Amino acid sequence: MRRKLYLETFGCQMNVLDSELVMGQLRVQGYDATESPDQADVILYNTCSVREHAEQKVWSRLGALRERKTEQPNLVIGVIGCMAERDGENLFRKFPHIDILCGPGELDKLPGMVHNASVASSASIASSVSVASSAPTVTAMNAHRVGPGRHVALMGSTSRRSSTLAQAEDSLELLDLSRSISASDGVSQAYVRITRGCNKFCTYCVVPYTRGPEVHRPPQNIIDEVRKLTDAGVKEVTLLGQTINHYAYKHGDGRTTTFADLLFQIHEATADLPRLRFVTSFPRDFTDAALQAMRDCRRICRYLHVPAQHGSDRILKMMNRGYTSGDYDDFVARARAMMPDISLASDFIVGFPTETDAEFAQSVAVIRRSRFKNSFIFKYSPRPGTTAMDRYVDDIPEDVKRQRNNELLAVQQEVSAQGNREMIGRTVEVMVEGESRLVSRQSAALSKVMAGGQAKAELLWETRTSPSDVARLPAESVTTQLTGRTRGDQIIAFDGPLSLTGEMVDVEIVDAKNLTLFAKRLVP
Ligand code: 5AD
Ligand code: SF4
Repeated sequence: MRRKLYLETFGCQMNVLDSELVMGQLRVQGYDATESPDQADVILYNTCSVREHAEQKVWSRLGALRERKTEQPNLVIGVIGCMAERDGENLFRKFPHIDILCGPGELDKLPGMVHNASVASSASIASSVSVASSAPTVTAMNAHRVGPGRHVALMGSTSRRSSTLAQAEDSLELLDLSRSISASDGVSQAYVRITRGCNKFCTYCVVPYTRGPEVHRPPQNIIDEVRKLTDAGVKEVTLLGQTINHYAYKHGDGRTTTFADLLFQIHEATADLPRLRFVTSFPRDFTDAALQAMRDCRRICRYLHVPAQHGSDRILKMMNRGYTSGDYDDFVARARAMMPDISLASDFIVGFPTETDAEFAQSVAVIRRSRFKNSFIFKYSPRPGTTAMDRYVDDIPEDVKRQRNNELLAVQQEVSAQGNREMIGRTVEVMVEGESRLVSRQSAALSKVMAGGQAKAELLWETRTSPSDVARLPAESVTTQLTGRTRGDQIIAFDGPLSLTGEMVDVEIVDAKNLTLFAKRLVP
């Protein structure tokens, strides 16, 4: 009998991709996705540890499941991803009803663990089968059971040893290679990992500990994956890596495929893929060759997400970022000289320990100078196990952090609005992503009223139009407000039929209000 799986994803694009791959494997094993945790036989949270706030959300989800597990002991609950790796078996102490812990570097073992946990839980209900002998063993190295019904796979301290690294590389590669997709899936955008992990050790960041060391995937496997996706009708592939421009694959014969080489090779091998993009770039070590690849390959989007994190050299040093604010400016100048129309986005942390008003003002100045399309702004959150938490006191009061966060956001909004106004009158190609949130929100509100106020509006409007919804629509159905994304990652609203979802459409930008661009469709 097929079983129901609820999988909720928190955090970055890497997690979104991991969830997709895990779901694909579990589907083969007899699980169907459900959007309702209440109906699930297995509940998995793919978690993020970058800030405490992200972890709090999962704690509250787990807390809410405590009673349900008492009533339904054969429900399998798993925490996967960065939180599992960071907090490890401590999570069992806080939430004894968890059955599975699986770190992001061990996800190839998850299907086996879910199977074991399901067998074990039904065995303990029937209390007639010996759990240890009936459950197939998870053969992988670091997966083991800790106590009845508990299944754990974490990299722990083994992750940076080279002997275990090679093995981890091989088995994780199988997870990426397991991806199955066909044209009937109707998917138009997809992520492809090129690098796992991170070696930078920025002092505030948990990622090098949770995702392990930088490992580059073989170029041919990446190219084959992009090819497979393109053949299945995907129109936009986003390559993923924590510091993506560090990509360098050393072949057995001593040759190295650099990031620039890889971009050229993918572009060459998938001439029918309309868009190729990549995130996230590290401001140092971005070669001219990689910028030239972006300039010369027509289908590579001229968009760079390249986090500056701060504008003060003293703070950048405390963060161990390895560059100065001047180096960052030089990179921006180099990118703009090569591609004057390039669109740049950044991340900033405010309220890093000891940050003064004058230093904060230097972050403000970076946003004004670099004219980012948008920036993601975060209040510093001390993370256990990081150097910053060990070494520095989190001495900036919460209200100062909040005030700096709001100020930086306001400056970015001013810069974004100015950039948007400059786009009025231009014709751009957009990839249609579906009905605009505004319209979805209105219909959600309507269905809430119709359902007697019981419906969860946020579930409806957070969901993009699904491919199966599109398949049911007549070719030229009722016109609605759609949103699409430009090559520079700007979001544009325009009127058109929902059946355009997933298509490339030319539009003329006619207006810019607040942070949204409005356009009219140019019908060929
Ligand atoms: N506190 C606040 N923000 C953080 N980030 C990473 N670690 C922390 C932390 N401890 C931010 C950085 C990074 C983004 C993904 O999250 O800006 O680029
Ligand atoms: Fe974290 Fe720095 Fe690596 Fe980015 S580059 S994932 S901020 S350690």
